[in-house]
Amino acid sequence: MDYRESHKQRGCSYDKYLTDEPFDAYMTEIEHNILRKIIPSLFPNTLPTYLDFACGTARITSLVSPLTKHSFGVDISESMLEKAKEKCPSTTFVHKDITKESLDIEPVDLITSFRFFGNAQDSLRSEALAKLNKLLKKDGYLLINNHRNPWSLKYILGRITGGESELDLSPRKLQNLLNKNGFRIKKTYGIGTWVFRNSLINSRRLNSKLARYLELLSKLPGVHLISPDAVIIAQKYK
Ligand SMILES: C[S@@+](CC[C@H](N)C(=O)[O-])C[C@H]1O[C@@H](n2cnc3c(N)ncnc32)[C@H](O)[C@@H]1O
Repeated sequence: MDYRESHKQRGCSYDKYLTDEPFDAYMTEIEHNILRKIIPSLFPNTLPTYLDFACGTARITSLVSPLTKHSFGVDISESMLEKAKEKCPSTTFVHKDITKESLDIEPVDLITSFRFFGNAQDSLRSEALAKLNKLLKKDGYLLINNHRNPWSLKYILGRITGGESELDLSPRKLQNLLNKNGFRIKKTYGIGTWVFRNSLINSRRLNSKLARYLELLSKLPGVHLISPDAVIIAQKYK
């Protein structure tokens, strides 16, 4: 199924799915902590304008919009946007496929797009990045994640033991895609490197004190290459 179609009716169940899945809830918590640190460091004075592309139910919009004067969210799923509007009443949400129609807003200072690129098909990834480049101001920042890294220990071990094998967005492929579309990676934060066996994926382990120490492993240089999720700061260079 085309990725554009797969989320159209998911507004009611998406948030519950992410909170109920222990590893998704874990990645969300760490992603939020990273964003709370990096956004004020990228925009120490003020964040004038912000767009969340493929915002879904505003999981990320709701975290970033309080830090900005003008925020926008865009998504192709009406049911996801309904939930988003409840969470962020002061954000302007637009129901549109920006790869097909133009989004009539001035270029913004920051764009986020989470849980989109890892899932999307190659053609959609490229079309979206080309459009996002136009929607971002010169030197503006794009913050994305890749929660489906085929180089991660978790997926390599999973594949050996017969798990899913369709993941294709490796760190190198993502870097090339970003470069081709006018973005340069400034920094990558790995997440959950230590969670490489399914037996580690339960709420008790993931919420333990030990997990907080093991998570420090993800911060070691280069370790993001084998992490199952990563937050990436990219800057527009052309
Ligand atoms: C997995 S959800 C991620 C939602 C949110 N960014 C998050 O991190 O929770 C992916 C979202 O991408 C949206 N989407 C897929 N194709 C899109 C497109 N061409 N333009 C805008 N949104 C799109 C879907 O409707 C869905 O809400």
